[in-house]
Amino acid sequence: MRLIDKDDIKHYSKVYDAIVIGSGAAGLFCATKLSHVGLNVCILTKDSADTSSTKLAQGGIAVALPVNDSPSCHYNDTIKAGAGLVDRKTALILVEEGVKRVIDLIRMGATFEMDELGLLKFTKEAAHSVPRIVYYKDKTGEEVERSLLDTYRGDIVEHAFVKELIVKNGRCYGVVFENNGNNFAIYAPVVAIATGGAAGLYEKHTNPETSTGDGIAIALRYGAVLKDLEFVQFHPTAFVNEGRSFLISESVRGEGAVIVDSYGRRFMGDYHPLWELAPRDVVTRAIENQKKITGGKIFLDFRPIEKEGIDINERFPTITQKLNEVGIDAKMDLVPISPVAHYYLGGIAVDTFGRTNIKGLFAIGEASCTGVHGANRLASNSLLECLVFGERTAYGMYRDLRILSLNFKKVSFKKIPCFPYEKGNDVFTSDDLRKVMWKYLGIMRDGSGLTKAIDVFRQMIISSSSFEVRNSAVLSLAIAISAMRREESRGGHFRRDYPYEREEFKFHSSFILRDLLNSI
Ligand code: FAD
Ligand code: SIN
Repeated sequence: MRLIDKDDIKHYSKVYDAIVIGSGAAGLFCATKLSHVGLNVCILTKDSADTSSTKLAQGGIAVALPVNDSPSCHYNDTIKAGAGLVDRKTALILVEEGVKRVIDLIRMGATFEMDELGLLKFTKEAAHSVPRIVYYKDKTGEEVERSLLDTYRGDIVEHAFVKELIVKNGRCYGVVFENNGNNFAIYAPVVAIATGGAAGLYEKHTNPETSTGDGIAIALRYGAVLKDLEFVQFHPTAFVNEGRSFLISESVRGEGAVIVDSYGRRFMGDYHPLWELAPRDVVTRAIENQKKITGGKIFLDFRPIEKEGIDINERFPTITQKLNEVGIDAKMDLVPISPVAHYYLGGIAVDTFGRTNIKGLFAIGEASCTGVHGANRLASNSLLECLVFGERTAYGMYRDLRILSLNFKKVSFKKIPCFPYEKGNDVFTSDDLRKVMWKYLGIMRDGSGLTKAIDVFRQMIISSSSFEVRNSAVLSLAIAISAMRREESRGGHFRRDYPYEREEFKFHSSFILRDLLNSI
């Protein structure tokens, strides 16, 4: 990678108790908990504080609070959606502790929809057996982000783009970030990566542009073990206009909207008994298939929602306004939809307290892989994961701090010189990378496409002088190699050349730096 010259680095004189990278739900929840027990915490975040996937969340948070629900029912739905790969112990933690964490969030000031008795209202999303999603209109994420930012009591550095970790002898001492063209080293005995997912590596996606898997790629370069990299969740119902994608929440279908083809026919029953509320990977592939069969577009029909007596402009103000801006009135018109990249299932391997294999380094939220979603995430389980494992990671950091702070010292930053660099002519841009990801690592993959992608990513790593391109290419190459190795189809990984699940592949995959170096 392009080296940061040691002499170019300014050093923060203040040593923090904890550094958290990222200000989405995972980072903020963890940092808030740490700041509330009196620790000196610093959040570093790439853009403005509220730029995150969290802020864009629409549907809500799944939680076993309704009277006709239970943690065991939520657990069963999570396992079923995860296509055989959900880590059972972690799933149990998620559904049981989730109840307390959502209540914590309400205590922190988050507002959710209530009925006339002042009790929480619940909506339904795909593959949930009961309505169990707490929500605020179609702006749940904004509400979560706002309440956490209001509650957090530590420092926050905006536009702090973390590029490197300070790691020595398998222990993390801090990070190096860029701010206003300057590089800074900042130190703490415990550091958490909460940099979100990697759907922004795709040409078409629902995420903010900041979701490029930075934290995952950086952790890999410094020796962290990664897990399940081949699994990417594509959301079936995005509205794509002039190359930009906008999510249309699954809760729209939960409230009654249906999917029709260019003949106006509801077709999901041909693919799954749950029709439009089948698991996301099933709906996504069904849409792609139906497009091929009919040769036409696929649409979402909002009109059945109105028949239930719900005013869609009130229930889904963000979505209907966005559609209005391009001349679509969802009360009357069919809305064209396409699947796009949405959520990254793979990430940094962690235990149930967010610990990675590097001492003092933790990971939370979409950047981590707890195994709780298996090969396909149940809708609205992600924000829940951020809260539950945000709390647990705060606990893990607090405990480890006792030991790690005893012999803590500022260690000078030493770049791990991972990859060869052959001065190229910078022919590759981030857009090229996103196109290759979409074409060869999209909804349907195959061996020959993956071989081509691996070749391009390899060239990007060794010939590009741009930090961003090389860092993104590191993760993209790791995803492509992992996808090549999994010769089956399961959840968010579908291979045309191996279209069925295979029992011998029913395991979590792992990926380490040596795997990458061997391929370059
Ligand atoms: P994020 O919220 O993405 O935050 C990551 C943070 O890290 C950001 O602040 C970013 O700027 C920062 N960052 C990234 N790289 C760096 C770097 N190099 N240096 C410093 N900072 C960095 N899930 C649900 O459960 N329910 C929903 O209804 C729902 N709806 C969704 C709708 C949309 C449109 C999207 C995109 C996702 C949705 N999800 C939903 C998924 C969920 O929102 C995310 O998985 C979750 O918010 C991830 O939280 P996070 O804290 O891990 O990451
Ligand atoms: C949505 O509202 O459809 C997104 C929910 C999620 O990603 O969990």
